[in-house]
Amino acid sequence: MNRMIYVKQTSHVMHMISIIGAGKVGSAAAFDILRFRTSDVVLVDVVENLAQGEALDMMQAAPAIEFDGKIRGTSDYSEIEGSELVIVTAGQARQPGMSRFDLAEKNAKIVKSVVKEVAKYCPDCRLMMVTNPVDVMTYVAYKESGFERNRVFGMGNILDTLRFRSYIALELGVSREDIRGLVIGEHGDTMVPLVRYASVSGIPITELLTKEQVEKIVSLTRSSGSDVIRLKGATTYAPGVVIAIMADAVLRGRNRVMSVSTFLQGEYGFSDVSIGVPCVLGRNGVEKILELNLDAETKREFEKSVASVKEATKKTYKPA
Ligand code: 2OP
Repeated sequence: MNRMIYVKQTSHVMHMISIIGAGKVGSAAAFDILRFRTSDVVLVDVVENLAQGEALDMMQAAPAIEFDGKIRGTSDYSEIEGSELVIVTAGQARQPGMSRFDLAEKNAKIVKSVVKEVAKYCPDCRLMMVTNPVDVMTYVAYKESGFERNRVFGMGNILDTLRFRSYIALELGVSREDIRGLVIGEHGDTMVPLVRYASVSGIPITELLTKEQVEKIVSLTRSSGSDVIRLKGATTYAPGVVIAIMADAVLRGRNRVMSVSTFLQGEYGFSDVSIGVPCVLGRNGVEKILELNLDAETKREFEKSVASVKEATKKTYKPA
């Protein structure tokens, strides 16, 4: 009898992701990347033993999530060598009542030193920025790394979109699974949830919600990060899982349509700014920027957002 020997396919593929910063967001992202079985993970932090402890804790959970790959913690940058994707979460996090822009000065210094190490050990990697204010930090990382612009992008609007979708589902009392939407612009107070493109199983939300309900959802989306920080001091699970979704899109070359912070060179009529716009996110990072035909009011909101990010960038980034 031709006995078939079924070898359980380990779902682990030989990729490597490095996460710089083993704080709440960095560790949550690492664990979600393992849970998605996307890649091995190297977790780096300057705080002695923090990354090592987080990695050991996750390794002990690995049998439960049937993850066969490696998770390492270190404070030695040389261990990131060979990473296909490097995710930077290192930096000061917001305190209650702070705006993300309040972190710019301090975090730009941290990002500059981190990006120097990344460019040294992983000159061909894709570089995902999470450190806030993420649009400004993506600009700093792009300029300091010397990488092509498609390889440097920021995690912000997908998180905003997740929150936008959650509040739409809550308001309608329907499954979050059927909600689709997009948020563009600053990952911050001037973000632009695209109401016109938001839908429930293809039905525009404007056919199901009143103007007041939509305004409430937009306002909740804008303040959602601050709302969590006011209650528990920092956001964790939502940014963590969004980072893992983006890592999956890049390493598995999924060409997902997502709004990420990317360096514009004329798209939407703007240049020399990194800000959230709809992109195709795949193996090479930003494979393509999708230019939408924004209506007059949305265009005005987006222009305001670009101006706000440009002003913060100008104040923060002084090329060496
Ligand atoms: C947030 O909104 C960390 O900026 C991120 O949760």
